[in-house]
Amino acid sequence: MDTITPTKLSPAPGTYQPKGQLIGGKWIGSASGQVIAIENPGKRIAVAEVPRAAAADVEMAVTAAEKAFPAWKNVVPRERGKLLLKIAEAMEARVEEMARTIAMETGNALRTQARGEAKLAADIFRYFGGLAGELKGETVPLGESVLSYTRREPIGIVGAIIPWNAPVMLGALKIAPALCAGNVLVMKAAEDAPLAVLMMSDICNEFVPPGVLNVITGYGEECGGALANHPKIRKLSFTGSTEVGKIIMRAAADRIVPVSLELGGKSPSIVYPDADEDWAVDGIINAMRFTRQSQSCTAGSRMFLHEDIFDSFLKKLEKKVTALKIGDPLDEASDIGSIINNKQYSKVCKYVQDGLDRSDAKLVFGGLPPKTGPLSEGYFTMPTVFADRSNDWRLAREEIFGPVLVAIRWSDEAEAIRMANESHYGLAAYVWTHDIGKGLRAAHAIESGWVQVNQGGGQTPGMSYGGFKQSGLGKEFSLEGMLDSFTQKKSVTVNLAV
Ligand code: NAI
Ligand code: MG
Repeated sequence: MDTITPTKLSPAPGTYQPKGQLIGGKWIGSASGQVIAIENPGKRIAVAEVPRAAAADVEMAVTAAEKAFPAWKNVVPRERGKLLLKIAEAMEARVEEMARTIAMETGNALRTQARGEAKLAADIFRYFGGLAGELKGETVPLGESVLSYTRREPIGIVGAIIPWNAPVMLGALKIAPALCAGNVLVMKAAEDAPLAVLMMSDICNEFVPPGVLNVITGYGEECGGALANHPKIRKLSFTGSTEVGKIIMRAAADRIVPVSLELGGKSPSIVYPDADEDWAVDGIINAMRFTRQSQSCTAGSRMFLHEDIFDSFLKKLEKKVTALKIGDPLDEASDIGSIINNKQYSKVCKYVQDGLDRSDAKLVFGGLPPKTGPLSEGYFTMPTVFADRSNDWRLAREEIFGPVLVAIRWSDEAEAIRMANESHYGLAAYVWTHDIGKGLRAAHAIESGWVQVNQGGGQTPGMSYGGFKQSGLGKEFSLEGMLDSFTQKKSVTVNLAV
């Protein structure tokens, strides 16, 4: 979005209006006075303005966090946990407002996506709130006259950067474990979807002391770059593209700070010949996140279909996917909403055009979006499937982050697994078969951080989630994730003989 002040803001009813960015417990504008206009991508209209933060704002937020850290780290962990539980409750009470805000700013459909995300975010606070007592150390048996034990200490000021595709869930996944473990946080919301994240921060701010959580709004390099490079940030936690993940890792290398990266994917789905059934088709639709316009890092966007069922499976898929209703994200009737912004919309359309231009790729259904009619008023794209080309073209290699699925034929199981692993990504994977032995052998052979067999769901708090290869580093969705990503272990060794 441009940084011009829009002449008119048209927020949807029942949505959250921002009060600024959260620094030191207060809502303030940007140091420069500049703002970013936030767009409703389903209607292409401006709905709000948020501060355009840059280095000076980062500095203020880091200073506020630094001031808050000594007291916060000394709060008894279970007391911190209780505050997170109160936040969970307060978020649950405002799920509808949160969901409408998410739908308005992201284009993700209210019924199929946004409401579930708002509930999950509250649940993430509840999950981590209950874990505060588990920040345990160990004793090490070094002999009768030595006491050696470890402590799980907070790292300090955490710098977090989140994307727009599931902003509240991904923001909750930084705030809850970082704060539970006794850290303080400076988090940059995504410039395309900061509103619901600010709302979540507003709720948090009712319960946590000023400066413990600071949430700023700004662009990538200008604001996120300043955060990643700030000398007082002691830990970096990033979710977004692999390209930017590398930039964050370089910044971390400069100061030797630990870094967690949740990056992109091009996740394979392997469908065995015995799975030519409705439940598998429904599972593929879910795994591909068609109802989130496939703007998901875990989207199962490469479908390896056994040759015996290739045509019949695609027919079933077409019937079910084309029955989904695309439309206004805030309309309860919509199954599928809109792409986040014009840049991503154009990118998705280019991939579709590329597929249409290739004589050796067959369009199964979908295609370019309509140029007229109600769907042309927002960034709406059509769920699209291309078939018949191999695993080696752009559409099968690159993260499209849009509803473009490639179907690839296989006959030999080892070959299917080889193709599935032929990617620099390794985030998620899906296997579909009644034969559990085959399914699990494939699950073990696939190079991905998370393999689902016969289901295509989203992450659940408690599971270890994170990518292999260039899909990421570290895990944040679980108790172990909190311990590994947001604490540092100290050993204390005492001579008992004196
Ligand atoms: P992005 O990776 O540029 O943005 C994610 C976050 O990083 C945003 O908050 C952004 O402001 C920040 N950022 C961007 N450049 C930065 C820099 N130099 N230093 C510090 N922070 C920076 O993703 P973008 O541009 O929104 O989407 C582009 C592509 O990235 C998508 O098409 C998709 O392939 C991928 N992506 C993957 C996501 C995932 O969850 N795996 C999420 C979002 C995007
Ligand atoms: Mg937007």
